[in-house]
Amino acid sequence: MGYQPVILALCCHYCAYAAADLAGAMRLQYPSSVRVLRFPCTGKIEPNYILSAFELGVDGVMVAGCLEGGCHYQEGNLRARRRVERVQQLMKEAGLEPERLEMFNLSSAEGTRFAEIVTLMTERIAKLGPSPIRAQIGASAIASDAIPEPPQVVAQGEAP
Ligand code: FES
Repeated sequence: MGYQPVILALCCHYCAYAAADLAGAMRLQYPSSVRVLRFPCTGKIEPNYILSAFELGVDGVMVAGCLEGGCHYQEGNLRARRRVERVQQLMKEAGLEPERLEMFNLSSAEGTRFAEIVTLMTERIAKLGPSPIRAQIGASAIASDAIPEPPQVVAQGEAP
């Protein structure tokens, strides 16, 4: 694969981030252009956070949360799915392919699946090509310090 899209993975601390960690511990191969950001829960991911990532020129965003019924904050991942669908609609209206954004649910034990998801998103975005927003802002690469820090992980039971 020539062109390597920049993918932002917004991961829940309890599942997807742990799965990403596990994929690393298992030394699984997946595209290195993914940037993983950890959130206390996907319910903490506001639509403007996703939109800001696209405005900064990332090519794709994956939101990865706990399995349905497994969110440590009860319904955070369900709220996240609704937000992702809303942002996909906004992207469509703005002329940006909604396939550049997707929500996944996985458990902390699914390191292999995490690697598969990153590979799937990378291949999909590579077919779509660089984000048209990146071309508009003239960015050839995304500076990692341009991506703001996510909120800190809070103790289980506290509202995210
Ligand atoms: Fe994992 Fe809510 S999605 S704690």
